Amino acid sequence: MSTRLSNDLYLPEPALPGQLLAQVDTPSLVLDLDVFETNLSVMQQWADRHGVALRPHAKAHKCPEVARRQMALGARGICCQKVSEALPFLQAGIRDIHISNEVVGAAKLALLAQIAVQADVSVCVDYMHNLQALAAAMAQAGARITVLVEVDVGQGRCGVVDDHDVLALARAAEAMQGLRFGGLQAYHGSVQHVRGHAERAARCAQAAARAAGYASLLRAHVITCERITGGGTGSVEFDAASGVYTELQAGSYAFMDGDYGANEWVGPLTFGTSLHLLSSVMSTPAAGRIILDAGLKSATIESGLPRIEGRPGLLYAAANDEHGIVRVDEGTAAPALGETLLLVLPHVDPAFNLHDNVVVLREGVVVDVWPIAARGLSR
Ligand SMILES: Cc1ncc(COP(=O)(O)O)c(C=O)c1O
Repeated sequence: MSTRLSNDLYLPEPALPGQLLAQVDTPSLVLDLDVFETNLSVMQQWADRHGVALRPHAKAHKCPEVARRQMALGARGICCQKVSEALPFLQAGIRDIHISNEVVGAAKLALLAQIAVQADVSVCVDYMHNLQALAAAMAQAGARITVLVEVDVGQGRCGVVDDHDVLALARAAEAMQGLRFGGLQAYHGSVQHVRGHAERAARCAQAAARAAGYASLLRAHVITCERITGGGTGSVEFDAASGVYTELQAGSYAFMDGDYGANEWVGPLTFGTSLHLLSSVMSTPAAGRIILDAGLKSATIESGLPRIEGRPGLLYAAANDEHGIVRVDEGTAAPALGETLLLVLPHVDPAFNLHDNVVVLREGVVVDVWPIAARGLSR
């Protein structure tokens, strides 16, 4: 749907079905449907083969249409990182949502409770006062929520490490009205990007062993631990086969980005790059330099600069707010004014958050435009 700007002026969609890639207005996220669908199937089959549930992370894309397709292939539900992020997915009919994060503050807890009235919701907890506040919010709304105790398996972000804390939180969650203890979240972010395959495997095994240790602790105290959830695109190959995780949370695999592309992928699980940023040459000011219309407001650069797909000799050298400065090597023909180039995004998650929609193509022809409905929902 186009965006109404005033009584008689509309911002058109970036593309219409039937148009070719080069006709898509820029800068725009463009999705190759064939590669995307293959990525979804490969991951679902990997999870099925190992008897673990797939609960893909929606923070990667913030797009209900993506989640719907993952669920249609067999995903158990979705993860959201923020409470507000869950709203468009709830509206799209998704009724199994894990908030893979701690939720702190009265306003957020009240919203979480309202969502839990309508859906099957789980949330992470790593602090007793937070558990009490969660129970109070659920009582207020007449809701019930599943609590997963987050354990720190080596990342050094959220999560408890002491056995005593794990047991105390699990027991309290079992005892409090409106809460149900469901198990553990054991996510390790930094192992995802360990480049070497063998080293990544070893680091994932260490994390899984720590998660298994907490699960045995619970069992030793006769506390049922139904779920152990975690894993991302870089670790699922090992997590699924570990026998420890019951649920995988990967998100970026559906698209792949420059950062994940830099990992060594020599195992049985590989994914293709389905998402690019389409950008146009907006100026050709000097020999050896062209300017693209995509800068920091179209892609983030914390994981490096975008890479220009299939065009050796063109280097995206610097990003300004709305400009991308490209160096053209000597001997390389410079693209013409208005020509479009495909950029590999360094990091997909924050890029999705910068765009209203993603243009979907099959074999180079536009088939749809999907709204990124949870864009900006970070509370
Ligand atoms: C808690 C949690 N689970 C899963 C993921 C999914 O990771 P990825 O998109 O790298 O597959 C992330 C990503 O940061 C995360 O923070």
